[in-house]
Amino acid sequence: MATRIDGKKVAASVIEAVKAATSALEDEAGVKTGLAVVIVGDDPASHTYVGAKGRLAKECGFNSTQYTLPEETTQENLASLVASLNADAAVHGVLVQLPLPKHLDADAIIQSIQPEKDVDGLHVVNAGKLATGDLATGLISCTPAGAMRLVRSVHGEDLTGLAAVVIGRSNLFGKPMGQLLLHANATVTIGHSGTKDLAGVCRSADILVAAVGRAEMVKADWVKPGATVIDVGINRIDAPEGGAGRSRLVGDVAYDAVSEIAGAITPVPGGVGPMTIAMLMANSVIAAYRKAGVTPPKF
Ligand code: GUN
Repeated sequence: MATRIDGKKVAASVIEAVKAATSALEDEAGVKTGLAVVIVGDDPASHTYVGAKGRLAKECGFNSTQYTLPEETTQENLASLVASLNADAAVHGVLVQLPLPKHLDADAIIQSIQPEKDVDGLHVVNAGKLATGDLATGLISCTPAGAMRLVRSVHGEDLTGLAAVVIGRSNLFGKPMGQLLLHANATVTIGHSGTKDLAGVCRSADILVAAVGRAEMVKADWVKPGATVIDVGINRIDAPEGGAGRSRLVGDVAYDAVSEIAGAITPVPGGVGPMTIAMLMANSVIAAYRKAGVTPPKF
């Protein structure tokens, strides 16, 4: 039976470390970490996420400001808000919640954030620094950083000799995750919808990371006995067994069956999910340390 990797517990330990780092920076350099979160429109799920980010930022001791813009905001207005946040020395991190309303060019906005303040790690400069192994000055996108933190909780820093397979090749997750695993010396394969014998490829993995967005796609016979399985999927499926009209969240991995085979596995919910927001807090305080010319701790 696999060990359950407790993302809530690891996230809580990251948040404790962020709190300590935040107060140390304030005591030693007189700098309070500033995070600006921008949301456009009324999407309820986005407002829930943004509210959680703001609350946690305050709990970490940050100066956290939310900018709520109406649905009909123009590209120019949003761009000028980002420009003013870029220019504000008290703001160390700028996050524009996605998705943006359809009439806005999200990529142009994300690429206009100063890379040093891009705490989401979505700017091409940060993607490029990760690709070239410059983890010392870049900011790493929060979900892959969080998934990697869970891999490290099982295997430590050095993955030499281990085969890692990431299913999914998105810019948001699959590509940066592959690069983080490679940076830690794993032998990395990125599988996707065009991969021949995906199940067989997955079966070769000592570390299997699933980010496809298909409920319970990874079956027990896709998994090498003893492997570490990181499930990045969040899928809502019907759950009539709980009553008519009920649904529940599942990952990309068939958890119960795979638990019988794997060595360690993340649950959904309670695995990678809580890590994303914790790593956002970590990136924010890292950005503040760098701006102050102080070497940040590692989270
Ligand atoms: N929307 C859903 N997840 C995210 C995220 O991690 N960052 C941003 N900016 N928007 C999101």
